[in-house]
Amino acid sequence: MCGIVAYIGYKQAQPILIKGLQRLEYRGYDSAGISILNGSIKTFKTKGKVSELENHIKNKNTDGEAGIAHTRWATHGVPNTKNAHPHFSKSKSLSLIHNGIIENYAILKEELVKRGYQFKSDTDTEVLVNLIEDIRINENVLLDEAVRIALNQVVGAYAIAILSDEHPNTLIAARKGSPLVIGIGEGEYFLASDATPIVEYTKNVVYLQDEEIAVLTRGEDFKIKTTNNKEKTPYVEELEWNLSELEKGGYEHFMMKEIYEQPRSIRDSMRGRLNTTTGTVSLGGIIDYEQTILAAKRITIVACGTSWHAGLVGEYLFEDIARVPVEVEYASEFRYRNPIIEEGDVVIAISQSGETADTLAAIELAKKKGAIIIGVCNVVGSSIARASHAGSYTHAGPEIGVASTKAFTAQVTVLTLMALRLAQLKGSLSRTKFMQLLMEMEALPTKVEKVLNTNGLTEKIAKKFKDVENFLYLGRGYNFPVALEGALKLKEISYIHAEGYPAAEMKHGPIALIDENMPVVFIAPRLGIYEKVVSNIQEVKARKGRVIAIVTEGDTMVREIADYVIEIPETAEYLMPILASIPLQKLAYHMAVMRGCNVDMPRNLAKSVTVE
Ligand code: F6R
Repeated sequence: MCGIVAYIGYKQAQPILIKGLQRLEYRGYDSAGISILNGSIKTFKTKGKVSELENHIKNKNTDGEAGIAHTRWATHGVPNTKNAHPHFSKSKSLSLIHNGIIENYAILKEELVKRGYQFKSDTDTEVLVNLIEDIRINENVLLDEAVRIALNQVVGAYAIAILSDEHPNTLIAARKGSPLVIGIGEGEYFLASDATPIVEYTKNVVYLQDEEIAVLTRGEDFKIKTTNNKEKTPYVEELEWNLSELEKGGYEHFMMKEIYEQPRSIRDSMRGRLNTTTGTVSLGGIIDYEQTILAAKRITIVACGTSWHAGLVGEYLFEDIARVPVEVEYASEFRYRNPIIEEGDVVIAISQSGETADTLAAIELAKKKGAIIIGVCNVVGSSIARASHAGSYTHAGPEIGVASTKAFTAQVTVLTLMALRLAQLKGSLSRTKFMQLLMEMEALPTKVEKVLNTNGLTEKIAKKFKDVENFLYLGRGYNFPVALEGALKLKEISYIHAEGYPAAEMKHGPIALIDENMPVVFIAPRLGIYEKVVSNIQEVKARKGRVIAIVTEGDTMVREIADYVIEIPETAEYLMPILASIPLQKLAYHMAVMRGCNVDMPRNLAKSVTVE
């Protein structure tokens, strides 16, 4: 997601900031900007790469020993120069960069507009910088106090850095839910979203904690206080990692980093949309189209690859929870087969990148036939997001590993929220059941954390099976798409042939493949038609197949017959695909690593498939 770099000290800030942004490029972004303080604040911003920003400032005067810099991954407002950070306050005295999402920005903005503020961008960040300035002037307080008061009014997540021409020796930073690291040099301070831009200058760092505000003054000791105004003693740590390790947050590959990011990415997908206190679900992006969706006789989902698997989970969810008929189509097939789409039909297009050519073409075709398009994309401002009438972003953050992991669970999370919203409007679920589901959803990120902590079990299983040539993945109901997704993960990164099937279909063909050399992964939680899945496992065991089963914690029945069991926590049947897909991602990852494959960039594959 977005990247923050800042510096205050006795060196020229610009080269440190640009280099720092380059070090954060791996996070993914769509625009970049920099503010340098030298008497007044000078700001430069460009859409696109940091190299473009570098070119843009080449012959400009960027002298100054304090500055802030940012790479933006759009959340509010499309990626363009206007929305790029830093953002100025009305008087141009403050410049601010921000990672995260201010959920109540619309209300805050309304108040500021009433007080005569005008906004040049569509961002929540410009609201925050003006809120700070408004408080500083009207309450006549120092800047750090104005920041503290403002942050107490903010709902959401943030990591911020602020430059002020009235306080040329000081940089202010704060965080809640979005990381920030302070690097301590000789009378100088570095600040960044992670330690990557800092490590070449100093190994002494302080990781800012949630709701802490740091006041970094050139040549002086720095101070930390909380948003509740309590002084804190900073805990200085020594960095042990080298640069290359840091870029991947200490993980060997982006894919593993992204697998482990899922508790956060799922939380971000739900943030501001799920409210267990009021018992409501709301998706701002589709609010104007809710009645159209409700009136639709059926919904068609179009997508490719992993996103198509998420769509399949969506079909089960929409039909089960919201009682709407759904068809899921491969976008590449849909676009060429003269599908029956009528005026007012609803088409949901799912895409991580938002650039997949087949999905885009399917949308254009459906639009021509009069359909309303609802996009479910990860990349803000992407072609599919722009081609849709309305939609909900997944907010998973940039996914760099080619094999989709956190984007899949975020897509399923958003589709679950959509199905729940429709159920809420239609009254198709009892209030008790609806509330139970909301509570279960809220508990999901914590359960995902638990699933991730399998203590080397998936690695052990991978070691056992890394040299096989075939794999079968079987599941039923909600877990059939999980079987398909598990098989896709394995084949695309380890190059082992793998197939996913509905477990009961096995006897109509694939059972012929089963012998002592065939590993079969069963997704067999104690839910739905569990006993029937147990029978399917027995059929495999009777033919000497080797069974790896994903089961509910405390399961005894499957444990007795399977060769390996991976336990996952109990949850509602509707939410099981999110939990069950995670051990399968890890299994595929370990197998691929052990086979010496290029996990993040598998052969022949691209992250964004912009060709047919
Ligand atoms: C598999 C994978 C692909 C994509 C597919 C669609 O791990 O990543 O199958 O899911 O190429 O891409 P998006 O979601 O960007 O439309």
